[in-house]
Amino acid sequence: METKSKNTRKKPKVLKFPEGFLWGAATASYQVEGGITNNDWARSKMPPAGLACDHYHRYEEDFRIAKKLGMNAQRISLEWSRIEPERDVWNEDEIYHYQHVLECLKRNGFTTFVTLQHLTLPVWVAKAGGWSSKATIKEYTHYVSKVAVSLGHLIDFWITVNEPSMHASFGYNYGTWPPFKRSFLKFLKVYRNMLDAHNRAYEMIHGHYPSAMVGFTHSIAFNEAANRRSFFDSLVARFANLASIKETYLRTKNDFLGVNYYFHNKYQLKLLQVKKVVGKNSVLTDKGWEIYPRGLYEVLKKLSAFKKPIYITENGVADARDVLRAEFIRSHVKEIHRAIKRGSQVRGYFYWSLLDNYEWPVDKRIEKTGYEMKFGLVKVDFEKGLKRIIRPSARVYAEICRTNSLII
Ligand code: BGC
Repeated sequence: METKSKNTRKKPKVLKFPEGFLWGAATASYQVEGGITNNDWARSKMPPAGLACDHYHRYEEDFRIAKKLGMNAQRISLEWSRIEPERDVWNEDEIYHYQHVLECLKRNGFTTFVTLQHLTLPVWVAKAGGWSSKATIKEYTHYVSKVAVSLGHLIDFWITVNEPSMHASFGYNYGTWPPFKRSFLKFLKVYRNMLDAHNRAYEMIHGHYPSAMVGFTHSIAFNEAANRRSFFDSLVARFANLASIKETYLRTKNDFLGVNYYFHNKYQLKLLQVKKVVGKNSVLTDKGWEIYPRGLYEVLKKLSAFKKPIYITENGVADARDVLRAEFIRSHVKEIHRAIKRGSQVRGYFYWSLLDNYEWPVDKRIEKTGYEMKFGLVKVDFEKGLKRIIRPSARVYAEICRTNSLII
């Protein structure tokens, strides 16, 4: 009997990734550094990030952990408000700080992905209208040029702006994030300005480094009709997919596509109202997002049309108990492998996030301080001296990173 069950056991399959594939994790300045007080978020009515993970002082320890976990790339962001606290005033000490951070990454053998603006703006920029003002494009390009001159030699991949569509929607359409505006016209303007700023930065960076790899991160969900047989549901889903991808990429210059993929939306059009519905058997994260790995495959399939290298610059799960994370990573990585087999040019994957950190609150009922959502591969004990504790799921990810493969 025993021999029989042994024989029927399926042989594990090894899904090998292309040589040189990048495996990493991502963070953003305001969410992890601590001590940032001069940006629009810190001065807003939102709960402040405060000391966050104190990554500003502990980055060496954090990168050591990432290295120990087998990663070969890291995505970080620079805080504009530290580098240029006032218009045309440059804080050289902060530039040195980032130089040390990037040198530390290089010393540890990481390929560096650097985001130049991740959701926050210096107070002086916000006061002058933020991304709703065209003047910000010029100010931003000026800042990018300073970064290029002082830190450019340490940056392998440039991410000009993070998720312009999210920044514009939450800040200017839903009005739930700074500057809390609710105007669809403003949303369109901000989105357009951010994409234009990206294009200007693209040119500027290439002026300094002709062979630089420059892109931005785009938040892409997979949108489907709640009922595939419904003409109207399908129409809404098609529009959502089209608006988020085609329009954006046709407007911008990119050496690579940075994709942030988290979830899936199922749309229903009922009584002229668009609703999002959640499937009965869906697994939801602590943030209430439906886990849907196949959506990543579908997104990658669509992006193949642009014929550019693709990096998954964010993909992660809020999971305080660490019961979903290992399988979340494995199932998404499997879909990436499937997409590569089909011809998709995916060259790297960044889990969001290396550390538990400040999460931009959306739902006030469950996100009161900004520290309720635990996305980290590494737990940060916010009660006990910010101690770093590697989660079991991080070991599962480490195995993938070290072997450049997934065993299924
Ligand atoms: C953002 C991150 C954020 C993550 C999880 C992305 O939209 O770039 O800053 O923490 O989603 O919400």
